[in-house]
Amino acid sequence: LNHFLTVEGLPYQLLHDIMDRAEQFVTLPAKQQKKAPLLRGKTVMNLFFENSTRTRVTFEIAAQRLGADVINLDIRTSSTAKGETLLDTVRNLEAMNADMFVVRHEHAGTAQFIARYSAPHISVLNAGDGRHAHPTQAMLDMFTIRQKKGAFEPLKVAIVGDVLHSRVARSQIHALTTLLTGEVRVIGPKTLIPAHIERMGVKVFHNLDEGLRDVDVVIMLRLQRERMAGALLPSEREFAKLYGLNEQRLELTKPDSIVMHPGPINRGVEIDTEVADGVRSVILEQVTNGIAVRMAVMAMIMGGNTGSAA
Ligand code: CP
Repeated sequence: LNHFLTVEGLPYQLLHDIMDRAEQFVTLPAKQQKKAPLLRGKTVMNLFFENSTRTRVTFEIAAQRLGADVINLDIRTSSTAKGETLLDTVRNLEAMNADMFVVRHEHAGTAQFIARYSAPHISVLNAGDGRHAHPTQAMLDMFTIRQKKGAFEPLKVAIVGDVLHSRVARSQIHALTTLLTGEVRVIGPKTLIPAHIERMGVKVFHNLDEGLRDVDVVIMLRLQRERMAGALLPSEREFAKLYGLNEQRLELTKPDSIVMHPGPINRGVEIDTEVADGVRSVILEQVTNGIAVRMAVMAMIMGGNTGSAA
C-alpha cells in the first residue's frame, strides 16, 4: 500500500491527515522545510507524457525539499519517440534505482497500470490521467478551502464549466462529498456535464446565475479542448457569455466567497481578468499550496500510512 492514485473512497480522516501534514510543512520555517530530509537517498522520477507547468514544477520542488534526487524525463526526447513501450520505459527506469514515479498521461488508468506492473518497492503518484483523476490537485484545493474557510461541513461549493472532460472536477467531487455536508453543485451546459453525475452526490445547474446564488466557494474550469475531439461545443464567445465568471455574477455568491481555478486559466473565456486577479481569487495560493500538499503526500507514502488509494 504505497501509491496515491485517486481520492475516490479515501476516508474523511485520511483526507484531513494529509491536510494536517501539509499544514506542518506550511508552518515550518522555510529553512527547516528545505531540510526535512524524509526522502533523502530516494530517487523521484517525473514522467509527464502530457504538458504541465504547476503540477510538474511543484512536485519537483516538493521532492527536492524532502531531500530526494529528482529526475524529469523529457518524454519528447526520450526513447518513447522511437516506439519503446510504456512498460519497457518503466522497467528501464526501475533499473536506474527509481523509488517513486510521478505520472501524467493522456489516457485514464495509466498511473494504475504502472503501479500494478512496476516493482513492489516503487510508489506511483497520479499527476493526472486522462479525464479520470488528479488526486493531488484535489487535495491542494481542499487544503486551500480549509485554510480559507475553516470548517468544510456547512459550505456550498460550485464547480463551473467543462466538468465532462475534467479529471480535476471528478477528484474534487469525490473529496468534497466526503468532507462536507453542505452542497456540491456542478454548473455548465448539458453538453459539458456528464450524464448521471447526480449519482456522485452533486446538484446540477445549467443556469450559472441560479447555481452561483449563495455559494461559499466557486471553482472555475477551463474548456479542455485537448479532450474534446469531434464534440459539438459552444464557441468561446458563447461560453463566456453563458458561463464566464465576471464581477457582476460574483455578486450573486456570498460576500466572503472565494474564487478558485486549477489552472491554466483562459482569461475572458471562463473567467474575467478582474475576477482572476481580484481580491476573492485564491488561484495563486492554490499553486503555492501545491508544494506543501505534494510534500505531505510523498512524506506519508514514505512513512507508509496513506493507504494505497488505488
Ligand atoms: N492544475 C494543473 O494540473 O496544472 P498543470 O497542467 O500546469 O500541471
